[in-house]
This record gives sequence, structure tokens and C-alpha cells, in this order.
Amino acid sequence: MNERQGPAQRRSGLQLIRGARGLLVFLFLVSGVINVLALTGSFYMLQVYDRALTSGSVPTLVAISILAVGLYGFQGIFDIIRSQVLVRIGARLDRMMAPLAHRVAVDMPRFGYSASEALERGRDVDTVRGFLGSQGPMALFDLPWMPLFLGFIYILHPMLGALTIAGAFVLTCLAIATEILTRRHAQASHEATVRRNMIAESNARNAEVMKAMGYAGRAVERFRLANEAHLSLQTRTSDISGTFAAISRVLRMLLQSAILGLAAYLTIRGELSSGAIIAATVAAARAMAPVDLAIGNWKQIVAARAAFRRIGETAAILDIAPERMALPAPRRSLSVEGITVASPSTGRVLLSDVSFTLEAGQAMGVIGPSGGGKTTLARALTGVWPVLRGAVRLDDADIPQWTDDALGRHLGYLPQDVVMVDGTVSENIARLDPDAKPEHIIAAAQAAAIHEMIVRLPDGYQTALGPLGTALSAGQRQRIGLARALYRNPFLVVLDEPNSNLDAAGEAALTKAIEGVKARGGIAIVVAHRPSALKAVDVVGVIQGGRMVAFGPKDEILRSRTRSDGAREAPAADQPDRKAVPVAVVSKARSDRTAGVA
Ligand SMILES: Nc1ncnc2c1ncn2[C@@H]1O[C@H](COP(=O)(O)OP(=O)(O)OP(=O)(O)O)[C@@H](O)[C@H]1O
Ligand SMILES: [Mg+2]
Repeated sequence: MNERQGPAQRRSGLQLIRGARGLLVFLFLVSGVINVLALTGSFYMLQVYDRALTSGSVPTLVAISILAVGLYGFQGIFDIIRSQVLVRIGARLDRMMAPLAHRVAVDMPRFGYSASEALERGRDVDTVRGFLGSQGPMALFDLPWMPLFLGFIYILHPMLGALTIAGAFVLTCLAIATEILTRRHAQASHEATVRRNMIAESNARNAEVMKAMGYAGRAVERFRLANEAHLSLQTRTSDISGTFAAISRVLRMLLQSAILGLAAYLTIRGELSSGAIIAATVAAARAMAPVDLAIGNWKQIVAARAAFRRIGETAAILDIAPERMALPAPRRSLSVEGITVASPSTGRVLLSDVSFTLEAGQAMGVIGPSGGGKTTLARALTGVWPVLRGAVRLDDADIPQWTDDALGRHLGYLPQDVVMVDGTVSENIARLDPDAKPEHIIAAAQAAAIHEMIVRLPDGYQTALGPLGTALSAGQRQRIGLARALYRNPFLVVLDEPNSNLDAAGEAALTKAIEGVKARGGIAIVVAHRPSALKAVDVVGVIQGGRMVAFGPKDEILRSRTRSDGAREAPAADQPDRKAVPVAVVSKARSDRTAGVA
């Protein structure tokens, strides 16, 4: 998604805070009030030393003390308001952005991003919300009010003012230096974290083979190295901000003492009252506190800023989708017009210039060697991958004209690698539809001939499938996947190697299901290596090397291929190992091409 970064993202980032702009102004003003009230301490000192002590009046002391307590109380109340507003802004942003970020995260793997990269999007929202509830933003809101204290000290004595301003300048330089030095590492550090999490995720996915072939130790070593890189970057960033935080703390104390010393000197020279010594010291401490706090929290500030920027990008990605009109349900045809498809992750063209048309009631078989582009075609037909050129039209309407929801109702897709969401059998078949009718679910299960197997499961249709559907056998998963594809009779059903894990009964059910789609006026497209899956199809397309090298009536295509391949073809039909078949298909397709079938 990096290629899409630009002004749109920045606009969107701004749009995010536009809703909260009024609140930000409010917070700025509340911070002003808090900072004015924070002068209470200094004024109290001045009054106690220069008025109560010199006059020796207890009532005066009591009166100014009561006043001070009242002002401190107000400061506390405003402080509470400010922190509660900040927390609520964080929660509001979270409520608004977390589902959107998750929507983008769900979409990212289609574009070649790993699951950990995708989940980072969700964590960004957490980072910003956590930051808004911390000390960091208070420091940022207090910083602009620093001149208030500097002005107060300046009024006490210009020399004290000059010293404090010089100190503030040095501290600000420190903050800027921290920013410059940590910014370089922040991005690298984020990338190292993602890389480490990616390795952790892929190791977890490979648990079974690692156990069986004993390379879990080496996988852990790979993780350790990535973790090492992540740690060293983290350490370096923390070192920088920690060092600068320590320097700034020491400088601040030094400055405070220097102000005290200078004020004492000025008092000895008779230019300052003794109350002013304390008042100046207290005001200087308060003026420097936000700088100190900001430097101390710099790591979090940088992380929150980067996360906020990515949230803006996330919002922009979703902004790009234009509003679409509702279209009538397709019922006539699927026409594929010269489509060229590239991998969204690498940009490599995987399929060029494929065209064909199917009418309602027709089924098409797609065959060809491994890596030829059959799955790529299935992804383009279902809108999983966008087409670079050309169009996939359902009743003349190009796929991008449909919303995902609307298209989904007319589409059934059984991918080559069947995974399920962590839910029950019925939730998976009904595609998470909360209002699913049991008769629709059962009809889909019966169409996939899996109803009997489901009701024999411990909890029947309510059986939990576990993460990714791992509680099922591969063949069971494939048949539940088929039921999910057939749920509520979609117009176009695309099945990518639906029989790769099926037994004879499963294949018979598959054939029946395809015939069912045809009989009700739908269109079925079946990618298959084994001819047994092609019993019910009318036409066959051969995809090889990213092109459709042959397309026509099934018998014609299969006969010409059998002819050109001779006796070698025959056993392949019953070949149990599906990976063994493509070899025959490759040579077939090649001879097709030389024979000019394409
Ligand atoms: N997600 C992806 N990103 C980049 N390239 C991909 C991706 N998926 C597949 N490819 C490439 O696209 C080409 C076609 O792959 P595809 O999955 O369409 O083949 P296929 O005909 O379905 O093969 P098989 O019979 O093994 O399933 C291959 O060269 C593969 O390397
Ligand atoms: Mg495939």
C-alpha cells in the first residue's frame, strides 16, 4: 500500500482530527487556565514573604492561604478535565478507527502483506489511544504556555528572565536533538519489530513440519537473530532518549539552582525582595517541567506520531473506494474481456489477454500445468485481485462497479487452500451472516453432500472449527468450503481444485453440485487437474504460461489433448497424486500450442 501514499493520506490524517479540532482548541485553552493557575505557588510565596511576614499579620496570612488553596483546587479540577477529555479523544479515535484499521488489515494479505504487518494496523490505534492517556500530550499542551512563566520571571527581574530563557533555549535544543537522533531509528525499529513478528507467525504456521522433520531449533534460531536486531534497535533508541532525559533533568536542576543563586545575589545587592527568590525558583521549575516531560516521553511521542500517520493512510485507503449504486442481480452471462492480471504484491504480470464468455446454465473447466495461472484467473474472476486491463462482466457490469457485499451475494468461491474463520460449521457456511436461515445453511450443506457428515459431528452444525478450521480433515474442510460457496445459490460459482482432497463420494457430490448450479441458471467455473472433476462441465479452457492457449467444447478440447499426448494420458485420469498429473498436462499444452490449437 506504500505506492498509494501521497496528499490523499495527509488529507485524510487531517480529516481524522478535524472532528476533534474543537476539542483540541478547548484543551489548549484549558491548558492555558491550568498554567495561569500554576502561578499560584509563586504568587503565594511572594505574598507570604513580602506581605504577611513583613507586616506580621496573621489574618493576612490566613486570607492568602485560603485563596491559594482555592486556586490549587481549581487547577486540580481543570487538570482532571483535561486528562479525561484526552482519554475520551483516544477512545473516540479508537472506536472510529479500530474497525476501519481491521478492515484494511483483513484486506492486506491479498496484496502480499504478512498477517503481522496487517495486524500492526490495529496496533497503531492502540498506540495512539495509549499515548493520549499518558503524560506525553499534557507536556505538549503545556509547552506553548511556557512564555507565561518566563514573562513572570522577567517581570521579577530582567536578569532572572534572561537566565531562564537561556535555560529554556538549551532544553529546547536538547528536545530537538532527541527528535533528530531518534527519528532515524524509529522507522527502522518499527520495521525490525514487524520482521520479528513475521518470523514468529510463519514459524507457528509451520509447527507440524518443524516437529516432524526436527527443524524447530533452527527456526527458533532464526527468530532469535531477528529478535536480537529488534532489541539492539530498541536499546539504541532507549539509550538516546534515556541519555537526553538524564541530561535534561540535570540541566533543569542546575538551572533552578542557578536561578536561586542569581536571585540571592540580586537580593544581596538590594534589587530583589526575598519572596521573589522563592517565587522565581518555583516559576522556573514549572516553566521547564513540560520540556523535561516531553524529552522523557519522546519515544512514545515519536511512536504515537508514526502510528497516527499510518492511521491516516489506513483511512485514505478506505476513502479511495467510491460510492456505488445497487445493481440488479446478474442472471444472464459472465464475459471476460481481454483481462491482464498482475500480482498486487510484486506487480509481475501473471495472466495476459484472457477472453471468454459463458451463458447462464453453463459450466467451464479450467485445466493447465502448475503455475500456469489458473488460480490467478480464479482470483480475477472473483475480484480478489484487480485486473490490470480488460474487464470481468456479470451481465455487462464490470466487477469494480459492485460493492463487495453485493458482489459477494452473487459469488461463490472455493479457494485452492481452504481456510475457515474461527467459528462454528454453520457460521462458516453462512459466511458469518447473523440472520442466516437454517434452511439455507442445510440446503448448501446438502448441495455439497456434507449434511450427513455434519450432523454426525459432536455438536452438529454448532461444532466449533478451531482457528483456521484445523479441527476438520482436509477433505471435510474442502466440502464445507464447497457448501460455503454454494450458500444461497450465487450466480457465479468459482471452484479452485475443489476435488484435490475428495474421495469418490465427494467427487460425485461435486459433479452433482455443478449440475445443480447449471440447472438453476447459474454459471460454474471449475479449476481441476483431474478429469473426474470435469464431468459436468460443458466447455474447457487451457491456461498455460499465463495465457489461455485453448478454449472450446469439453469433448473437443480433451480429445485433441488426448490425441496429441497419446497413451501417456490415460493413467493420469486416475492418478491419485495430483502433483504428478501436471507433467502430462504441461507436455499436452505445449504440443497444443505447436499444433496451433490456441
Ligand atoms: N500471491 C502471489 N504473489 C505473486 N505471485 C504469485 C502469487 N500467487 C501465484 N503467483 C505466481 O503466479 C503464477 C501462477 O500461479 P497460479 O497460482 O495462478 O498457478 P496455478 O495454475 O493455479 O497452479 P497450481 O496448479 O499449482 O495451483 C506462478 O508463477 C506463481 O509464482
Ligand atoms: Mg492453483
